[in-house]
Amino acid sequence: MAQRRILVTAALPYANGPIHIGHLVEYIQADIWVRFQKLRGHQCIYICADDTHGTAIMIRARQEGRSEIDLIAEMQQAHVRDFEGFDIAFDNYGSTNSDENRQLCGEIWRALRSRGLIVERDVEQLYDPEAGTFLADRFVKGTCPKCKAPGQYGDNCDKCGSTYRAADLIDPVSTHSGARPELRSQRHLFVQLQQLHDFLTEWTQCGEHLQEEVANYLQGHFLNEPLRDWDISRPAPYFGFEIPDSPGNYWYVWFDAPIGYMASTRQWCDRHGEDFDDWWRSPDVEIHHFIGKDITYFHTLFWPGMLKSAGFTLPTKVRIHGFLTVGGEKMSKSKGTFVMAQTYLQHLDPSYLRYYYATKLSPRLDDIDLNLDEFAAKANADLVGKVVNLASRSAKFVRATGLAARYPDDGGLFQRAAAAGDEIAAAYEEGDYGRAMRLIMELADRANPYVEAAAPWNLAKDPRHAQELQDVCTVALNLFRQLAIYLAPVLPRLAQQTGVLLNKPIEHWADSQTPLVGTPVAQFHHMLKRVDRKDVDAMIEDSRTPSAEEPVGEPAAESAPAISQPLSDEPLAAECTIDDFAKVDLRIARIIAAADVPEANKLVKLTVSLGGDEQRTVFAGIKQAYTPEQLVGRYVVLAANLAPRKMKFGTSEGMILASGSGGQHVFLLTVDDGAEPGQRVH
Ligand code: MSP
Ligand code: ZN
Repeated sequence: MAQRRILVTAALPYANGPIHIGHLVEYIQADIWVRFQKLRGHQCIYICADDTHGTAIMIRARQEGRSEIDLIAEMQQAHVRDFEGFDIAFDNYGSTNSDENRQLCGEIWRALRSRGLIVERDVEQLYDPEAGTFLADRFVKGTCPKCKAPGQYGDNCDKCGSTYRAADLIDPVSTHSGARPELRSQRHLFVQLQQLHDFLTEWTQCGEHLQEEVANYLQGHFLNEPLRDWDISRPAPYFGFEIPDSPGNYWYVWFDAPIGYMASTRQWCDRHGEDFDDWWRSPDVEIHHFIGKDITYFHTLFWPGMLKSAGFTLPTKVRIHGFLTVGGEKMSKSKGTFVMAQTYLQHLDPSYLRYYYATKLSPRLDDIDLNLDEFAAKANADLVGKVVNLASRSAKFVRATGLAARYPDDGGLFQRAAAAGDEIAAAYEEGDYGRAMRLIMELADRANPYVEAAAPWNLAKDPRHAQELQDVCTVALNLFRQLAIYLAPVLPRLAQQTGVLLNKPIEHWADSQTPLVGTPVAQFHHMLKRVDRKDVDAMIEDSRTPSAEEPVGEPAAESAPAISQPLSDEPLAAECTIDDFAKVDLRIARIIAAADVPEANKLVKLTVSLGGDEQRTVFAGIKQAYTPEQLVGRYVVLAANLAPRKMKFGTSEGMILASGSGGQHVFLLTVDDGAEPGQRVH
């Protein structure tokens, strides 16, 4: 296999707060991928940095009576310590407030200027006269101009979901000082993204750079109309880099933040005698960005636009993940589920969380739920019960003899597990760690009955069974080692301990393909203890801060709608009574025929059964989302008493219930087993 050269980044965490278990979804996800690539023998570097600029840092430093430099240095130290605690191994961890970054920002800026992409215009913005600073939308609160709900932020209303300009809020106050902001006009610099429209359409919609749902989101929310100019400057006072050819103006934090990926790479190159252009201007290098869905806009439109304009390599892939919820809900300080990395580490082993996240991660954007019962159960049943147990129950019996000189007959267990290696590797490569973990645990499920049946602890009682004992333990330890290799990207500590136990470090994925024989076995040291539910509860208790305000970060996507905000895209309808609801007669129906309507680009003609001879014809706008074959036989919910509607192709006698925005984004409701056609849905 040819050696790949791969540059991996994770989003740069803001320097204005500590790392929490939500962040860790991403840093662990990317770390697993990097460790996997390294184990496969590729050259892969993992690059990150603190994101240090912006108003939030400036205000906080002021409040704490110290310099920004002092504040960000302290945060950086804390972040680095947190990442180390979770075995997240960056090849370079930099800062956006570095000389390298200032220089690269200047370079990219000049490229944008010389391509005529920068324009200037006056902008009206709220200004806090007491704090002496302009206010980003997130730092203004007031009454919603639409529904009059008090205490809403300057960009959109929590209550009614409408979006507006901060200046439209009724009775606005600055969250910094409590002062009433005034509207001030100021010159800003903009990038005319529209000039890059064709390129961005091409880049986002073709090739494999983005997950399909992301490409569709961009097409549907941004690329279907002219791209708005991107406001890229902020007037003084601002903590950041002053724009060299526009004194008094600073680059907006989201301009210099992604360039921080490059600046951090440059530091790595300088330390390793590598050439920077060999990484950022080379067609042989793959660049993979891991990010959360909240910052999609910046990484899939602005960033490729900047790279393209300045002649750098475009990302191979932007790998976007969903958000962490705990027990099905948003992390919350008052519930104790807003757990800081440090608090976790005071109570629990990082391997549990790495493994738990791995079991939950996929290439999709779904949110990831941390269920605390399941968390404890998985660590105990899988890691301790199925994996470590293989070693702890056999290693001590071969301490004196070492492994057998020849690998014994194990009924094909080792070979079978070796053969599964490619499939497991493919799952890692795709980011489908959940699948990789399932495949690995299936192997563990085959190994354990072998040890159980062979019962080395019984063989050890009778010296006449010495050879058999050595054979059985040789098999058990090899099956264990194979699992430890497959799990090494997720559980680096276990891999390391396994190397020590069997006197052979785990260095390459291919180590899983040949059994170890004739080598000494070290004293078995405990590897991973069971999770005690009491420790989990103590961690939650320690994280609980009654009546705490949920933290507010730098506005991630000031001008971008979140990827999935269905409720604010379409606010709830006016209240209705139960009688109103009962007027619509919803019935279970079975699709018995589905036919394409060739003249229509949205419609499928469905024949549905309501039980017995009762049938209806329905034209449903689901053509781009489902093929007729996928539909026949399905149970659906039908609004059955709607007045028939004459359409161009025939009469539709009802509607099938589905959600989604249309086109490919249509999702039929499913019906649980047992329901029968004709039954009413209440
Ligand atoms: N500073 C920006 C990124 C700049 S990249 C050039 C930022 N920082 S952040 O600290 O708010 O978030 C860092 C990463 O962590 C983002 O990718 C974000 O999506 C992710 N997460 C933050 N909270 C998260 C959860 N609760 N769940 C999952 N990921 C989360 O954004
Ligand atoms: Zn409102």
